[in-house]
Amino acid sequence: MISKFIFPTLFNLMKNLTYTIFSIALLFSCGPRERISKEVFDKVNNSMEAKKLSEAQITQEAMVWGDSISTAAQQQFMSSLHKAVEENGFAGAISFCNGNAAPIASELSKKYGVEIRRTSFRARNPANRPTADESPILDAYQYNVENSIENEPNIQKIEGGDILLYTKAIVISSEFCLACHGDVKKDIKADLLNKIDSLYPNDLARGFRLGNLRGMWSLKIPKKAVVNRL
Ligand code: HEC
Repeated sequence: MISKFIFPTLFNLMKNLTYTIFSIALLFSCGPRERISKEVFDKVNNSMEAKKLSEAQITQEAMVWGDSISTAAQQQFMSSLHKAVEENGFAGAISFCNGNAAPIASELSKKYGVEIRRTSFRARNPANRPTADESPILDAYQYNVENSIENEPNIQKIEGGDILLYTKAIVISSEFCLACHGDVKKDIKADLLNKIDSLYPNDLARGFRLGNLRGMWSLKIPKKAVVNRL
């Protein structure tokens, strides 16, 4: 059963197992990709040892850092979006989102040294569809929302443990979101809908209601960068 912490015990077991399999794979592998990965692995492990850090401390720090980056990113997206709506109306703001959402995300990614994006099963921009690492987490968030379980941010090790994937659910929180993501007859005005259709012919991000899961923040945090912060 999926709990709000996304299978805490089973998840830990799987993590340990993945770790073991990964270490065994390293012992027997000799490809260049594995060698690079082993170098990173050893470097992080050595600096962890020098600083006497535990895995739990690293996960905790990644959680704190992920929370603060995603909050800052959310604020930046929202203030730019509100400004665009005030200046050009909702239809005008669609062009703003179309041209600026990705550049804002990549600017923030550069600033923090962490890959930052938003992802959704029902994406407006196909580039925001979930990866294989992200899909099961989105599934769990969706399950929680449907069963009135509070969603907590989550950290998961990916890419052999070199990357900590921080995620945080994004919920349709106000009427403001519905103007562009709500019901096509009730919430989204006709001129706006035309604009969305022309810019996003494969749009899936419509028909949402207040309280629905819209997607999630997804941050790829290098473990090395977290260790350096401690
Ligand atoms: C002015 C219209 C508009 C409003 C208002 C708006 N959005 Fe969006 N939203 C968009 C557009 C356009 C995109 C696609 C951006 C891109 O090309 O990456 C988008 C993308 C997203 C994405 C990324 C996933 C995807 O579908 O591509 C999320 C998550 C999201 N919006 C959540 C929200 C939430 C939550 C609110 C309310 C707080 C909101 N949006 C308000 C227009 C809007």
